[in-house]
Amino acid sequence: MEGFKALIVDRTQDGNHRCEVGMLKKEQLPQGELLVKVTYSSLNYKDALAAAPDGNIVTTYPFVPGIDLAGTVVSSEDARFREGDAIVATGYGLGVTHFGGYGEYASIPADWAVPLPDGLTLKEAMICGTAGFTAALSVQALRDNGVVPEGGPVLVTGATGGVGSVATAILAKLGYEVTASTGKPEAKEELLGLGAASVIDRSELAPAAPRALDKQRWAGVVDCVGGKTLAAVLAGVKYGGTVAASGLTGGTDLPATVFPFILRGVRLIGIDSVFVPMPIRRKTWELLASEFRPDKLHELSSEIPLEDVPAALAAMLAGKSRGRVVVKL
Ligand SMILES: NC(=O)c1ccc[n+]([C@@H]2O[C@H](COP(=O)([O-])OP(=O)(O)OC[C@H]3O[C@@H](n4cnc5c(N)ncnc54)[C@H](OP(=O)(O)O)[C@@H]3O)[C@@H](O)[C@H]2O)c1
Repeated sequence: MEGFKALIVDRTQDGNHRCEVGMLKKEQLPQGELLVKVTYSSLNYKDALAAAPDGNIVTTYPFVPGIDLAGTVVSSEDARFREGDAIVATGYGLGVTHFGGYGEYASIPADWAVPLPDGLTLKEAMICGTAGFTAALSVQALRDNGVVPEGGPVLVTGATGGVGSVATAILAKLGYEVTASTGKPEAKEELLGLGAASVIDRSELAPAAPRALDKQRWAGVVDCVGGKTLAAVLAGVKYGGTVAASGLTGGTDLPATVFPFILRGVRLIGIDSVFVPMPIRRKTWELLASEFRPDKLHELSSEIPLEDVPAALAAMLAGKSRGRVVVKL
C-alpha cells in the first residue's frame, strides 16, 4: 500500500485549524490488531464536534475523525478475526482518541470489532451507524422498562436527525404510535413516511413557563436533545413511563424537578453507545439486522464522498442535518 486518502484535521503552529482530505501512510496509523479496508463510515454529531476548531473532542493533532466504520479485515493479529471478515466498529476511542473511519484504511483493536450481522450489508450497517445503534439501544431500553405499543403514544425528539429518524422508523416498525418532534416543519411528510403517526413542532416542548408536571401524554420517549426539551418531556410522561436520554443538541443542563420521578414513577434511563459492553453491542447489531431493521432503511440515508464531509459536518453542527449520511471511502 503506497498511501491512502483520509480526512485529516490539523492545527498548525500558528493556531490555524484545517480539515481537508490528504494522504496518509500505513505507518501513520495507530496500533491495532486489525487492519481494515474501510468501505463506509457515516456522519454523527460527535464527528461534527471532532472536526470543529472548538469542539473539545480531539486533543492530539493531526487526527482522522469518524466514530464509526464498516469494512473488511485486511490483516489480523487476533485469532477471532481473519482476512476477508466483514466488521463494524463504533464507539470506544474510535474517531476521538484513535484515528477513525474517515480514511480508506483503519487500524483498530480487535476488541472494538463486531462481526457484520447477517441481514445487513456494509453500507446498511453505516446507514444505521452510531446513531442507529444508539436509537436501537434507546428503543430496547423502553422495552426493557415495560413500554409496550398498547401503552399509548411514544415521543421521539430531534426526529429528523440520525438518532431520531432511526428511532422513529424502528418504533413504527414495532407497532408503536410515534409522535415525532422536529424543528423542521418542512420535514413533516418525510417523518410520516418513516412511520410517525403525528408530527409536532419542537416549540411545543419548549414552553415559555415550564411546568413541573404537565398533562400525561407519553408512555415512552426517545430523547436525543436534552436540556429544556428533556425537562419539558419529563413533565409530560405518563405514570410509570420511561425516557431514554442519549443526546445534548438542545443543551447539557436539565432544568427539571423531581416530581415526575416521585409522583409518577417516571424512569429516566441514560443511553451510552460508546462503552456499552460487547455482549449488548452484538445483540443490538443483531436486532438492527432483524426485528429492528427499518423497512425503509435506504430512504433514511444519502451518500457522500470523503471530499464532501467537511461541509456536511458544518451543516450538522448548525442543526441542519436530515436522516443519516453515509460516507463512501
Ligand atoms: N449517548 C450516546 O452514546 C450517543 C450516541 C449518538 C449520538 N448521541 C447524541 O445524540 C444527539 C443526536 O445525535 P445525531 O447524530 O442524531 O445528531 P443529528 O443528526 O445532528 O440530529 C440532532 C437533531 O437534534 C435536533 N436539534 C438540533 N439542534 C437543536 C436544538 N438547539 N434544540 C432542539 N433540537 C435540536 C434536530 O432535529 P429536529 O430539527 O428534527 O428537531 C437535529 O436534526 C447528539 O447530541 C449526539 O451527541 C449520543
